[in-house]
Amino acid sequence: MPRSACGGARNDKANMNDDLMQKIVALCKRRGFIYPGSEIYGGLGGTWDYGPLGVELKNNIKRQWWKDVVQLREDMVGIDSAIMLNPKVWEASGHVEAFTDPLVECKVCHARFRADHTRETLEHEKSHDGKVEWTQPQKFNLLVKAYLGVLEDKQSEIYLRGEITQGVHVNFKNVLDSTRVKIPFGIAQVGKSFRNEITPGNFTFRSREFEQMEIQYYIDPKGKEDQKWFEYWKKQRMDWYLSLGIKKENLRFRDHEEKERAHYAKAATDIEYNSPFGWSEFEGIHHRGDWDLSRHEQYSGQDMKYRDPDTGEEYLPWVIETSGGVDRAALFLLVDAYSEEGGRTILKLHQKLAPYKVAVFPLLANKPKLVGLAKKIYQDLKQDFISAWDDRGNIGGRYASQDEIGTPFCVTVDFQSLEDEMVTVRDRDSAKQERVKIVDLKSYLHGKID
Ligand code: GAP
Repeated sequence: MPRSACGGARNDKANMNDDLMQKIVALCKRRGFIYPGSEIYGGLGGTWDYGPLGVELKNNIKRQWWKDVVQLREDMVGIDSAIMLNPKVWEASGHVEAFTDPLVECKVCHARFRADHTRETLEHEKSHDGKVEWTQPQKFNLLVKAYLGVLEDKQSEIYLRGEITQGVHVNFKNVLDSTRVKIPFGIAQVGKSFRNEITPGNFTFRSREFEQMEIQYYIDPKGKEDQKWFEYWKKQRMDWYLSLGIKKENLRFRDHEEKERAHYAKAATDIEYNSPFGWSEFEGIHHRGDWDLSRHEQYSGQDMKYRDPDTGEEYLPWVIETSGGVDRAALFLLVDAYSEEGGRTILKLHQKLAPYKVAVFPLLANKPKLVGLAKKIYQDLKQDFISAWDDRGNIGGRYASQDEIGTPFCVTVDFQSLEDEMVTVRDRDSAKQERVKIVDLKSYLHGKID
């Protein structure tokens, strides 16, 4: 097996990073962000369930992405294609033939690993005191098979989609015929993909069921502008992650070498995140050329060309793709936002992404007048913001509880509020407190959050 530096002696930094991941996994379970899939039955490898706070975070990420790449642009439309596609799609796309990872098996216990995942294979060798023999790497196809049809003997074998991309390309003509798009333009999609990953791991980072958010951006190959668009989308995507507050020093580009590029890619760059388990792929930007449309033309026998409305010229466009993982975004945003300050754990999530925007507390839970006014404010704020209510324990404990899940603002109703119709608003990151008039509270929060 190839050796790499990451298999060496564990150093302090590695231990700290393991510790950080453990804290994040524990926080996710304890506070309802992410649970192991099918946990009461012993789990199902590589699957995760998002709890009440996790689903809010993930929805916020997807909503923000959709707003920024579809709603606010004039050159983009959206689509939501089926997860189950005609199996010919996957022959045409090259996935049946080439969507493979190299698999090796331990001859001692028959555990299987990805040959290129050195850390896992080295850890496995250690568990056998170094006495491991490996099989030769074999190609293992990642497509997940399913069976469709009501008569058992006539059921047809299909694949759950291995990337959301193909549902877009097979609809290229439908979109052209039903909208007024003109090249250059993009089709965006968000949805689930499935891969029979050999070694799922690093929490949700490599799962067998996950969500992607992708743009397929169609350009004219003759304009020789592919490099320009490739660079444009690299910058757009990097800027998007920065706009969500991810620390600049934790993001970088990494160009793929020719031998590691996917079968469809003429060029590829990853945006990587500096995660506790090392620099890791966050999003891919790929120059797919006319791979998809030409293959679908060939395999379906349908004309997939674009007709220029001004010149009448017909051609197969090239595609620049941006493909990000929603689960990776949720994970890396949590990692990036996690901080411990003076004994407090704070998730410094961007206001737009925080599951709850505001929490409302009555200073004391046994004072009906305080509770009544606080409830009224809470019900009113709920119309505009996802809001939390907490009347347990003391105020300090409630602040700590909201800090830990990233709620940017806490509103406390105290005795003074009954007199002056003002409340205390406390900011998560600075812990600073401000008195705000109840009538101005909504606009105050809109000003900070929107
Ligand atoms: N359509 C191109 C495509 O699917 P990819 O590099 O295989 O390209 C794109 O995947 C993104 O999807 C990755 O950068 C990652 O964010 C996410 N992704 C891929 N495999 C994943 C997995 N097993 N678990 C979670 N996210 C994954």
